[in-house]
Order: sequence, then C-alpha cells, then structure tokens
Amino acid sequence: MIVVGVETSCDETSIGITRDSKILVNLIASQEKIHSRFGGIVPELASRAHLEKIVPLFNTGLKETGLKVDQIDVFGVTNTPGLKGSLLVGAAFTHSLAYALCKPIYNVNHLYAHIAACFIDKNISFPALGLVISGGHTNLFLLRSYTKFIPLGKTRDDACGEVFDKVGRMLNLPFPGGAHVEKIALKGDENRIKFPVSRITNSLDFSFSGIKTAVYYHILKNGIINPEDIAASFQKAVTDSILIKIEDALKLHPVKHFLFGGGVIRNNYLRNKIEEKLKEKNVRPIIARPDLCMDNGAKVAIFTYYLVFEKYKPDPYAINVLPTK
Ligand code: KG4
Ligand code: ZN
Repeated sequence: MIVVGVETSCDETSIGITRDSKILVNLIASQEKIHSRFGGIVPELASRAHLEKIVPLFNTGLKETGLKVDQIDVFGVTNTPGLKGSLLVGAAFTHSLAYALCKPIYNVNHLYAHIAACFIDKNISFPALGLVISGGHTNLFLLRSYTKFIPLGKTRDDACGEVFDKVGRMLNLPFPGGAHVEKIALKGDENRIKFPVSRITNSLDFSFSGIKTAVYYHILKNGIINPEDIAASFQKAVTDSILIKIEDALKLHPVKHFLFGGGVIRNNYLRNKIEEKLKEKNVRPIIARPDLCMDNGAKVAIFTYYLVFEKYKPDPYAINVLPTK
C-alpha cells in the first residue's frame, strides 16, 4: 500500500511517502531561516511558506520514488494540533488531491504521529507507554494498540521544547534554541547550579515553567558568566523531572515497551538518561530515530498506514478538516 503523509502543523512543510510502514521518501522544507530573526514562529509567515513549498515538495516526492499519482492508495494529513493557518494549507492540499484522485484520506493527530515514528520495523507489545516531548507539547499516553491512545498526562504550563527555546534565548543562542543548548551543555558542569526539579505528586502531569523562571532569576542575579554551566544544569533539571514522571508512569502502568517521540527527543543527553533509567526498570525503550523526531510527513504516513491496518473508516473529504476549538 502506497501512503502519502502530509505535515504542515507548524514550521516544517513535509511530505512522506511510505510502502506500508516502510519509508520511501521523507522530504522536509524547514522554515527555520524565516522565523529565526523573530526569535519565534510567525504564524502568517509560516502559512505562506507552506503554500509556496507544498506542491513542489509533493512533485519531488513523486520524482524521487518514481511513483505516478494514480499509484497512491491512501492519504494522511495532520489536522490537529497546530497553527490553524498552517494546518489549513496541508489539509486543503491533501483533501483536494485525495478528492480529485478518488482516494481515501485520514486526518491524523500530530502527537500520535510523533509516536508512530517509533513503529518502523518494531513489534510493539501492547499496552505500551508513549511520551511526546516537542516544542509545543509534552504528552504521555497509554497505547492500547498502534492507534488507540489514552491520555495519561501533559504539561500544566510550558512545553519542554518551548522551555529549551526560551532558555536558549536567555543565553543569546539562535532560535530554535534546543539543539544549541544541548551543544554548549557538552562543555558545562551539570552540577554547578541547582535548578529546581519539578515533581507534581499524584499525577502524571509535567511542569517546566518553574525551571525556566529559575534560570531567568539566576541570570538576572549573576549574569551569564558561564553559559555552558547554565545550559548543562538546566538540561539536567529538565531531564530529571522527565525521568521522575517516567518512573511514576511505570509504577501505574508496568508495560514492557516505552515509546518516545518529538523534537526534544533528539537530545542525546536525554536519550541516554532515558535508556539508562529504562534498563534499570527492565523496560525496553523504543526511541524515534533522530531524523524522525522533528515534524515530518513520514510519521504521518506511518500512522495512516496503521489506521488502515486497524480498519478505521476514512474521513469525509474536506469536512471537519480543522477541529472546531
Ligand atoms: O517536534 P518538533 O519538531 O515540533 C513541534 O511539534 O513542536 O519539536 C521542535 C522542538 C523545538 O522546541 C526544538 O528546540 C526542540 O524540539 N529540539 C531540541 C533539540 N532538537 C530540537 N530540544 C533539545 N535538544 C535538542 N537537541
Ligand atoms: Zn511536532
């Protein structure tokens, strides 16, 4: 089955094409250069850039795979959550194409697709736990199958990636700051500054704004004497608070497999600490490949494949494309 997955929820335009769950191509047009000078994503500019890139990207996908449009069996498109104008570009493009070709289409939840990046070549033992840590979200799920997700917890304030980006900004690093914070943290002492580690009791919710505020006040009081130490100590505090929630989740749901996806999961320090913790607990970590952690169309296509596999009905064309709230 040839599946086309389209992703335009934020600042990456992406088309992924898979044969079942095997990736044939995963093309990403990043808008990093457009938004970096504003220190954040400008929604109107994001939608316009999606509009410019989406058709050429789709044509490149066909060219690189040697496929003709009529060989496509099914389409999937991210329809929530995300920036409304950006989502609308992907949804309008994909629904129009599917309608014109009389092919089925599935609306895909962006967060579920982040977890679907872990499904490649893996036999998952269900129920499993899944954690998405991205720029806009930090969400924990219990997976009853490849597509049945039960929400267990989420951030009560800032998303984890958002806090990485804000700390990056405080340290005068380029936007988005996550990867830059990780890079300079390599040269820092993670035990130099004790930032607070959040722990919400009796809940699987997360909180990151306290750590962010602590970094802000540390810089206000001391200035940026050693940015490497600040980055390393911050990264350690964030990682420790994630590890606490992983342990809490495993106490309530003693699963065999724990899946991880989302942009922040590219962070090697975090990946290593997660692996160490799960080894201790005798749980197998299934961590998305670094190139599939960021927003991309292939993960949308993989999730779509599993929607078909688990016999979901396709969505109606161009109806309920965007959520009402
Ligand atoms: O999943 P994603 O591409 O977009 C959203 O769905 O939000 O994640 C983007 C986020 C940004 O906040 C970015 O700074 C963060 O992922 N990120 C990282 C790293 N690479 C990307 N955060 C920490 N360390 C990294 N190496
Ligand atoms: Zn994302």
